[in-house]
Amino acid sequence: MRNKKIIIAIDGLSGSGKSSTAKLLAKEMNYKYLDSGAMYRAVTLYIIENSIDYKNLKKLKIILNKIRLEFIKNNASGSYQIYLNNENVHKKIRSKKVSELVSEISKISIIRKKLVQMQRIIGDKKGIVMEGRDIATVVFPNAELKIFMQADLNIRAKRRFKEFEKLGKKITLEEVKLNLIDRDDKDSNREDSPLKVTSDSLILDTTSISLEDQIEFIKKEAKKIIN
Ligand code: DC
Repeated sequence: MRNKKIIIAIDGLSGSGKSSTAKLLAKEMNYKYLDSGAMYRAVTLYIIENSIDYKNLKKLKIILNKIRLEFIKNNASGSYQIYLNNENVHKKIRSKKVSELVSEISKISIIRKKLVQMQRIIGDKKGIVMEGRDIATVVFPNAELKIFMQADLNIRAKRRFKEFEKLGKKITLEEVKLNLIDRDDKDSNREDSPLKVTSDSLILDTTSISLEDQIEFIKKEAKKIIN
């Protein structure tokens, strides 16, 4: 898999396992990895921390120019973490507050436009696994491999709940479940770039498939294209 580099777009429902799969897949293929959701979360964090009236689009446009996002390698974990105006926010962006507001913020077209532009620059040279909601539809409609991930709601809620527990966050399983339902609904029904399956996407249902099997499935499909 060394020669031809492709773009692997992974979209899907919240909590379907996109991040874990995309991250490990990128590592095994020696590809770059981009968590586009982290970018929407970082902008949401900025809006919360600075009490920005995000409905005022004129002001929001000016404010967006003050937001600098970077992915910088963390020496301890070896993974790339997101920085918002020079501050490492990779933990803060997973808070309950951010999770509750992020779908509302990601509806806003001027925000999407700015982040999509950045994502296209990052993926320009190919050799990347990018995950999100609109990667196959908007960011890279010509991606060579498009995967749509889904899983049973209860399984997704349990997985997310465990992640919150690991981070020491206080939240109930029911709250996690309601947040997933709310985000799936908002992300799938918004006007600009809704989450949807393209006709050329492969569906990967992760309800009862191990992470290793998910990776094997995608690698096999990638190999077919690369060779
Ligand atoms: O992948 P995630 O759950 O961390 O994403 C958080 C939110 O960001 C998600 O609910 C919708 C939004 N998002 C988006 O609108 N487009 C993307 N490409 C990625 C995420």
